[in-house]
Amino acid sequence: MTLKNRWLLARGFHAPVCGAVEVLDDTLIEIGEDGVIADVVRPSEERYEALKSSIDGQGKLERLPEGSYLLPGFIDCHVHAPQYPQLGSALDVPLEVWLHKYTFPLEARFVDLAFARRAYGLLIDDLLANGTTTALYFATVHQEATRLLADLCLEKGQRALVGKVAMDHPENCPDYYRDASPDAAVEGTRALIDYVFAHADNASGLVKPVITPRFIPSCTDAALEGLGRLAQDCGCHVQTHCSESDWAHGYVLDRYGMTDAASLDRFGLLGRRTMLAHSNFVTASDMELLKVREAAVAHCPLSNAFFAGAVFPLRAALEKGLHVGLGTDISGGPSASMFEASRNAITVSRMLESGVDPEQPAAARASGKVARIDFRDAFHVATAGGAKALDLPVGQFAPGYAFDAILIDCNAPGGTIRLWDEAETSDDLLQRIIFTASKGNIAKVWVAGREVAGTQAPARGV
Ligand code: GUN
Ligand code: FE
Repeated sequence: MTLKNRWLLARGFHAPVCGAVEVLDDTLIEIGEDGVIADVVRPSEERYEALKSSIDGQGKLERLPEGSYLLPGFIDCHVHAPQYPQLGSALDVPLEVWLHKYTFPLEARFVDLAFARRAYGLLIDDLLANGTTTALYFATVHQEATRLLADLCLEKGQRALVGKVAMDHPENCPDYYRDASPDAAVEGTRALIDYVFAHADNASGLVKPVITPRFIPSCTDAALEGLGRLAQDCGCHVQTHCSESDWAHGYVLDRYGMTDAASLDRFGLLGRRTMLAHSNFVTASDMELLKVREAAVAHCPLSNAFFAGAVFPLRAALEKGLHVGLGTDISGGPSASMFEASRNAITVSRMLESGVDPEQPAAARASGKVARIDFRDAFHVATAGGAKALDLPVGQFAPGYAFDAILIDCNAPGGTIRLWDEAETSDDLLQRIIFTASKGNIAKVWVAGREVAGTQAPARGV
């Protein structure tokens, strides 16, 4: 116990292992000045009572209010930050039309830094208020606006991974919105990496750079080769879209005679720190490759309903031992809430299992596979699973992990949780939270021990 450390007496839940929720009941959590958890002491431990009285005696024990429960903060593994201004709209056309009709024109506007500041500032505030303590961001092709996104995450205290989007293919990217050359795509990525690492306010590494080829169709071979070399050199995270829709999947098969995953591997872009968004149409051998490379999938259930027309087989991926996180895919997915993403992941898994065509008799309708996940699996994937997928020490309450957490107030009048019976600390309560909580229930949000948002957050002079 170090003198300046803080102690919380908390009730809550976390899920370090998929499928298993640990209920934390009156647990002592020691948080260091660096925002890292120094100790977690459960009532079952012998030292608990003496330690608790000693900390309490020194007036250093912070009790969380009755009816409030601590959860790890959410890890959103796929967000397009510049698409926030079109959240909830532009969902009427397929992916390849959507990009040119709505999304590239919107992203091109981020050449304007005043517009970027407004959109990115609002997005970070809203994501933090929704309990997203870590976000993996695609920005735009622009160097300046992408740097601004990193600056704003640091200023507002959100843990983030930020990528300058690389997209240089003249056939698939418009003249008004693309990297001028393969070299510009690679050097622009390198410049962003250098900027983030050298940032004066980023000594703790709260924000990390990400190598971000948008998807294979938007990149030339030369850009993919250069980015792959860069990934091998710097060991940074990599993110891209993988086999998202029939069109995107088919395009890569036509161009390379092999799948997205196999192609990315050939370019050196598939490694332990690679996050592949969607991956709906991955083959059995792709899955095997992902497992060998320890690459991760960002499952985006809501967006997949609009752009993929398919459901990623999350349960199969988890059973295979793949790293999987959950993503909102703002704005392909029209919700910024990881509670909603968790619910959607559960819902679509049920539909994948049962089938959905009512004209078919039940037996013919069903997929024939057990595909369902439950709230425990979804909670794991949205927190500890996503963190592990990103290779970050967050997402659970254990020594050595950053204290990135949210406090759920089950009694908040402006929230959406309604408990009828006496509140109890069991995982059924977590089930109710997962299915019914919303922003109004998120009383506090901490990142690296710093309180950064929540309905009960102290006013901040940002
Ligand atoms: N594929 C390439 N770019 C995008 C994008 O911005 N959103 C989604 N969902 N898929 C993409
Ligand atoms: Fe996406």
